[in-house]
Amino acid sequence: MLPGPFHPRRTSQAAGRVAALVAAALCATLLTGPAQPAGAAPPEAPAAAAHDQARWAKARAFALHQLAATDRHLARGRYPVTAHPDVPWRTEGSSSWMAGFFPGQLWLAYEATGNPTWAARARARQRDLRWRRFDTSTHDLGFVMLDSFGQASRLTGDPRARRVVLDSAASLASRWVPVAHTLRSWQGPPGQVTVIVDNMVNLELLFWGADHGGPAAWREMALEHALTTRDQLVRPDGSTWHAVRFDEQTGERVWRGNIGGARDDSTWARGQAWAVYGYTVAYRETGDPRMLEVARRTARFALSHLPADGVPYWDYAVPVTRRTPRDSSAGAVLASALLELGAIDPDAGLRARYRRAGLHTLRTLTGPRFSAQGSGSRSVLLHGRASPRTPDAGTVYGDYYLLEALQRAQLVPSTRRALRVVRAGASRAAAHHPGRAVLDHSATSRWSASWRAGAAAAALRLDLGRVRRVSGVSVAFWQGDARATRLRILTSVTGRRWSVARTVVSSGGSSAQETYDVPDRRARFVRLIGLGGSAGRRIDLTTVRVRG
Ligand code: GLY
Repeated sequence: MLPGPFHPRRTSQAAGRVAALVAAALCATLLTGPAQPAGAAPPEAPAAAAHDQARWAKARAFALHQLAATDRHLARGRYPVTAHPDVPWRTEGSSSWMAGFFPGQLWLAYEATGNPTWAARARARQRDLRWRRFDTSTHDLGFVMLDSFGQASRLTGDPRARRVVLDSAASLASRWVPVAHTLRSWQGPPGQVTVIVDNMVNLELLFWGADHGGPAAWREMALEHALTTRDQLVRPDGSTWHAVRFDEQTGERVWRGNIGGARDDSTWARGQAWAVYGYTVAYRETGDPRMLEVARRTARFALSHLPADGVPYWDYAVPVTRRTPRDSSAGAVLASALLELGAIDPDAGLRARYRRAGLHTLRTLTGPRFSAQGSGSRSVLLHGRASPRTPDAGTVYGDYYLLEALQRAQLVPSTRRALRVVRAGASRAAAHHPGRAVLDHSATSRWSASWRAGAAAAALRLDLGRVRRVSGVSVAFWQGDARATRLRILTSVTGRRWSVARTVVSSGGSSAQETYDVPDRRARFVRLIGLGGSAGRRIDLTTVRVRG
């Protein structure tokens, strides 16, 4: 069946939530004060945290060393896939589902260091992937295009990269199968549509597209796909099946089980990690409590079935002996997902639990058992499991998610001093969406704004007067103890090209300031875009501080 037009089946709680923050024009607002670390991530014991930070810095330095060596030796148009000690990377061409991870790591290295050499390497490596934006033969476009061109757009504001990502989102959306309420993953046996849990991770491309000028229906489509995956592939205890097949004519389920895992009733470890990751992103991008529920449920299953060191065996149900293979890639995906969930879950206790667990797994992955340091392998991690039929190996995706997790581990609420904001006002885009905006001088500075669906570009813009180091943003929300708000933080040196620093969700449990760290960067301008929240179409900020 050909993909058809998209008609949402379920009432979407996200409908109308994509909206604009319309800020009042504010002049010469002075926002200073003592640092108040709070909210976004739980505090860690200072000595342990300092020890960990040194460990992450060392692990990242090794990852960057490996990346540079791989870049030196890799032929143009080839992409690393798996690695073994003392053997060069096995590579694939640009049509591989894994082709985005190497340029993606180069972009993460650029984000971590600010060194333009990494950006140049990333651009050179992603050039041969441009054609994939029109590749409608695969669901893997999120992995391939968001990790490469998507990061280029996020980190540099490059409009050509943005165009490529939008085209890619359109290609992914073309795989919508209305009768089954899902995006097609694999072609499947004749007359059937196959959906795999891995596809949850590609949804971010559709959320991104809907936020960057694509049709709002892409957001609905992604949400609906996530709900179908929840209903078909997530068990009540939070474990997952890997794959489900539907009849293409009727949409009825004809089979489900495991292609990646050990048995149909078992749980493939990487599939489980994709589920935790995908539902965490879906919650971050929609604020929909149904996504949060599945993120928590799948995380709970993983956390209650992991071995003591936090890195899963390749399947959660296989008998464990000394020879049972681990899957470090599943560990890296899971660690990254847990660190993100540990930053955005509205429940402070759960935030702390997820972050602790993510850091624990990360410590094991960066320790002697899994680190490739000294092994002769070109990968960063050892002991991944590309498929049940292939031997133990380093994997390019394990390395990608390890680097992402390291970046997330280093994000703790900034305690640096607040910078003076010399001017604050609505971004240019906001002028086109005037909405309702109030500035209340009586108690605190307060920006109230009503959303308008589709006007996501309107934003509050802060000018620091000159280029400064920026390490975080502290925000207090009016009635912040009663509602969670999603906020995107962007920075710019010139005010023309913007780089996305982070998307956050306020805890919904406090009216005090919450501090959201961002990877250290140089910027003169900071922009906050409201993306909706549990109170629907309103945003009210009482204080904003930019941390130095
Ligand atoms: N399709 C992604 C994976 O094999 O994990």
